[in-house]
Amino acid sequence: MLSKLRVVKAARPVLCSSQRLACISTWANVPQGPPDAILGITEAFKKDNDPQKMNLGVGAYRDDQGKPFVLSCVRKAEKALLEQNLDKEYLGILGLADFTKGAKILAFGENSRVVKENLVSSTQTISGTGALRIGGAFLQRFYPHGKKIYLPTPTWGNHIPIFKDSGLEVAHYRYFDKATIGLDINGMLSDIKAMPKNSIVLLHACAHNPTGVDPTKEQWHEISEAVKAGGHFAFFDMAYQGFASGDINKDAYALRYFAEQGHPVALCQSFAKNMGMYGERIGAFSIVCESSQQKEAVDSQLKILVRPLYSNPPLNGARIVSSVLNDKALYSQWLGEVKTMADRIISMRTQLKKNLQDLGSSKQWDHITNQIGMFCFSGLTPEQVEKLRSDHHIYLTKDGRISMAGISSHNVKYLAESIHLVTK
Ligand code: LMR
Repeated sequence: MLSKLRVVKAARPVLCSSQRLACISTWANVPQGPPDAILGITEAFKKDNDPQKMNLGVGAYRDDQGKPFVLSCVRKAEKALLEQNLDKEYLGILGLADFTKGAKILAFGENSRVVKENLVSSTQTISGTGALRIGGAFLQRFYPHGKKIYLPTPTWGNHIPIFKDSGLEVAHYRYFDKATIGLDINGMLSDIKAMPKNSIVLLHACAHNPTGVDPTKEQWHEISEAVKAGGHFAFFDMAYQGFASGDINKDAYALRYFAEQGHPVALCQSFAKNMGMYGERIGAFSIVCESSQQKEAVDSQLKILVRPLYSNPPLNGARIVSSVLNDKALYSQWLGEVKTMADRIISMRTQLKKNLQDLGSSKQWDHITNQIGMFCFSGLTPEQVEKLRSDHHIYLTKDGRISMAGISSHNVKYLAESIHLVTK
């Protein structure tokens, strides 16, 4: 035995110095990349030891103690699933059918014609990012009228690399008006009208990230008309259903209106925020088709796209979300919990504005309460953001976006004082 071991040891190759150099230089051309504009902030925040530090970077809900919040309906669903002693077999390539069915009904509504007639092809995805990436790849492969997608300015930072990495060209349309800190509806409509026929237009369904500025119902009607007139394709990103108003139906207005108007939309959904399923990575990508034959073909091609990427999606999050969406009691508890989260954020908006006013800030802060959803597009400059970080241990993205969910009744005063100091 001993001699055998010795043989093995002696057989290990010894690298000469030139071979070692070759190993090292193989990756010598890999440049150091910058930290992620949003998730990199969490990394920096974790390294800060100041007791007053605040992470207002990533959009992740916290309770009023600043703690991550696991919804009670999710805990109950998990417990029930555990008690069933279920197996861990592979899901089908498109995921758990009860989950995708529930997700479609949640988004399009239970009376939706396209759902009732089974015209929506859906696949479970690795949360909203995965939905966008699968959607981007599907359009790149099959959209017959071009490979360019138009995004609002500004948009969620990750949209741009997602679509570029999917092989699409990225272009932009006007969305936010810095002067009014509101929607630039005229700019948006004229840019949509000026796009080449049959363009792909990405629309944030609700709670626009990062601005917190959404079109009104009437403005959505105008947008729908402009999209239709150009023969454009509406690609909805709905990562915050329920988070804008606290009501999942109100927040689905734009998507449902477009579907009713006959737009053949695509939709990306995430359950990270509205069900607090962040790390479970659970979402869905859907495409409305014109016939069941088309739906079958799209289903088949989604499978062909997914299989070489990750084979089939993970089980756990799908089972939990499916349990919540398909069980009457859990579903109604969930609706209440979504509203609780949305209401806490709204109350933080009111308190932040009031604190700034009480401190005598001469700036106009109405947009804090006018905007909706998880974020406040504060108008703070990159220099002011940097000062908040260096002098006050408050972390937010460079564009001045504040994740309102990171504020609590315990630190809102400190935040207001710090903002007041850097904006004086
Ligand atoms: C955000 O915008 O903060 C969230 O969507 C989280 C993320 O992945 O960027």
